[in-house]
Amino acid sequence: MQISSLAETVFDRLAESKGTFDDVAKSGNLKVITSLMRPAVRGYVLRKGKQVDGRTDIDTNSPAHFDWRYRRDREDLAKLYRLAKQSQWDSDTTLDWSTVVQIGNPANPLIDPKLFPLQNYAPFQRLSEAEKADQGHALVSWLLSQFLHGEQGALFAACQVTQAVGWLDGKLYGSTQVMDEGRHVEVFHRYLDDKLKRLYEINDNLYVVIDALMTDGRWDMKFLGMQILIEGLALGAFGALRQVSGEPLLRKLLEYVMRDEARHVAFGVLALQRYYRDTLTAAQLREREDWCFEMSVLLRNRFLAHEVYDEYWAHKMSRRQWNEIAMTAPFMLMFRKRMFKRIIPNLKRIGLLSDRIRPYYAEYGLLDYEHGKAATELTGDDLIQEIE
Ligand SMILES: [Fe+2]
Ligand SMILES: [Fe+2]
Repeated sequence: MQISSLAETVFDRLAESKGTFDDVAKSGNLKVITSLMRPAVRGYVLRKGKQVDGRTDIDTNSPAHFDWRYRRDREDLAKLYRLAKQSQWDSDTTLDWSTVVQIGNPANPLIDPKLFPLQNYAPFQRLSEAEKADQGHALVSWLLSQFLHGEQGALFAACQVTQAVGWLDGKLYGSTQVMDEGRHVEVFHRYLDDKLKRLYEINDNLYVVIDALMTDGRWDMKFLGMQILIEGLALGAFGALRQVSGEPLLRKLLEYVMRDEARHVAFGVLALQRYYRDTLTAAQLREREDWCFEMSVLLRNRFLAHEVYDEYWAHKMSRRQWNEIAMTAPFMLMFRKRMFKRIIPNLKRIGLLSDRIRPYYAEYGLLDYEHGKAATELTGDDLIQEIE
């Protein structure tokens, strides 16, 4: 796992400047590391996701593929398209928005207080019930804000993927995903705006992942980053939050979003499985394997609610101390376990879990999930039943 000294020096400087870059570059693949450098500089150093006016413009490298022959030759994707058409739902009528969400209501708490990451930390235990509820509210708001930011990325990625994909059946299916992601942006924003009245900025690591896939000109990298990694992560995260939340509107909203996401991940697996098997060279597959591993490490180790730490605990404990608590808290463990339970079987299915890369995942304890079902074997109902 050695990387070149040049890259190491640059990464060290980045790590010094921000302190969050040390987990990137584990695979030692210089091509992958180089491709992640610019997104990392924009995310960690220039802080493009956290501009003062709350806006970011990204130059996308986004090819459009036209095919004037209109061949309908992918029955597997056509089937997914039919399913998606039948499964559309209206957020206004499906969800009961009249529900009053009371922060700290013990009858239906936003998050089970026993699962709050700081529950064993003495200064947190000394807080009043109202203060604890406020921090639970902050944590859920932070998590849902990240979901919202991820959904905005998914909406734009779905547009790019739809124009780039080579099969008409894939484009038709993609058009339903664009609608789905628009609805997801709408419902998460509405919940945050109407019910929680709080919105957090995008987490730096999530920004880097979104920036990396938006700016990569290869259509399959957009698929890989969004449909397999971010969507897989989202499915796991939605399931984890739904399991620990007692708030009925949030639970139902997450359930409906998860049913849509199950189709999105299945699209990624169906599209990439054949393309990777039939088209790419060993060197190209190796690059994608390493890219996924770097992204997985980034998502595993660094999704640690630093924005909540900055707001409530920065003056009371070090960031390192917070990281240790966040890495070992039961809710965060469950959160990470669910994320990778969804991602790893799909990487295996599309041929990106070779014997060469397996030890890298094993070192992070992520191979435990490799025998789980891939997205094409799971329906939205299966996913909901799993967390009931
Ligand atoms: Fe979505
Ligand atoms: Fe999605």
